[in-house]
Amino acid sequence: QKVDTFDLVIFGGTGDLALRKLLPALFHRYVDGQIPAGSRIIGVAREPLDDAGYRAQLSESLAGNGADPAKVDTFLQQVFYRPLDARKDEGWDAFAALIGEQPEHIRVFYLSTSPELFEDICRRLGQYGLNGGHSRVVLEKPIGRDLASANRINDAVGKVFAESQTYRIDHYLGKETVQNLLALRFGNALFEPLWNASHIDHVQITVAETLGLGRRAGYYDRAGALRDMVQNHLLQLLCMVAMEPPASLTPDAVRDEKLKVLRSLKRIDESNASQLTVRGQYRAGVAEGQSVPGYPDELNGTKSDTETFVALKAEIENWRWAGVPFYLRTGKRLPERVSEIVVAFKPVPHSIFDASAGPLAQNRLVLRLQPDEGVKLWLTIKDPGPGGLRLRHVPLDMSFAEAFGVAQPDAYERLLLDVVRGNPTLFMRRDEVEAAWRWADPILAAWAASGEAPRPYASGSWGPSASVALIERDGRTWHEDSE
Ligand code: BG6
Repeated sequence: QKVDTFDLVIFGGTGDLALRKLLPALFHRYVDGQIPAGSRIIGVAREPLDDAGYRAQLSESLAGNGADPAKVDTFLQQVFYRPLDARKDEGWDAFAALIGEQPEHIRVFYLSTSPELFEDICRRLGQYGLNGGHSRVVLEKPIGRDLASANRINDAVGKVFAESQTYRIDHYLGKETVQNLLALRFGNALFEPLWNASHIDHVQITVAETLGLGRRAGYYDRAGALRDMVQNHLLQLLCMVAMEPPASLTPDAVRDEKLKVLRSLKRIDESNASQLTVRGQYRAGVAEGQSVPGYPDELNGTKSDTETFVALKAEIENWRWAGVPFYLRTGKRLPERVSEIVVAFKPVPHSIFDASAGPLAQNRLVLRLQPDEGVKLWLTIKDPGPGGLRLRHVPLDMSFAEAFGVAQPDAYERLLLDVVRGNPTLFMRRDEVEAAWRWADPILAAWAASGEAPRPYASGSWGPSASVALIERDGRTWHEDSE
């Protein structure tokens, strides 16, 4: 699909996200010939760099990813840098003049900064008239830290950019497997008739990371796992699993259905949070074979009750899902990096097999988002060979890399080009963000009211044992992807 010539400005251009994700994503699109000649990528941050200094930084981080140096060089000719402080006057005239040099370009302003700066940046963009019809603004998550602050940000941005120009990014929606959920659910006759409380026992969504705090203490310690991961990424995954078939794939048709799911989430508050949620914080341990410090050590001993792990039992109060628990968990410093959605079906209504055949296991559909994207459908078959009828549980296994022989593009690659093309389907609408906070706020309030510290867990473990107890209390277990 053709992409128009564009200017993409990254506020927070020297930050972790820009260097680790956004610029590599743009570079990959460039290598695939999708960055039209004449398009400009403009990094903006407070550091007093010039184009050459910025390019040198990027060249280093791109080369670290094994990129072809000649291609990196030509790509960097399209990359520029302007020092700018969102809260000060100087630099803005020159910046506006630079953008003004190309009045025909699609303009994308990517705010990869702390949300506290969104208002100042948008005000300036408005002041300089950079918010016209072919301008778009991209807001990184989390939008605010609760409903009230999200509303303030959305109001401030909304004074300058129309909702149709506002792209609230949740990069999980750009992951291949997440989009594949739409194809699997609505492109096959097989699943949809079973996709409801009559046939599905429960759903699990796990996003496990091996990484710890890294360089992000300033942001993360004020956020915690519920705000950083659950309110956005995990809820978006839950919506994709649970939503009704949209009338079409137009942006609003899809987002209307997701919104209905968010609004049907059962409230978790002081009355039930202690049964339905578990918070954890990692301590020293071994992650990927290396000894790693605990969260308090990484904060240099500053006391913190921020959670780095959350497990919870969500429920969707509607006809399709009544009584089907959605168990969500996410954490840092867990034993492996794995993100997956597990749809566990109900058992057969009656077993005709002898006890000697072995136990019947649940059918499970496992959608793996990372590291190796693919779909597995766990089935019961007869153990091959003589020796009587013994049952065995095996996966029909489709790894995308094996099946298609191509590496999947990073989520940001797709989403950045969607912004340029003006397609907001995979971005969150304002009312979705609000509904997600409306669900998350009472959980945060319940935790604050309880005054309890998060439960410690060793780095390299699957979180506090209470997370296992949360699901085992219901006679279920967290999925382990082995026969
Ligand atoms: C980000 C969170 O949104 O997602 C990070 O802020 C997290 O804390 C990251 O590490 C995970 O993304 P991915 O694509 O690596 O699973």
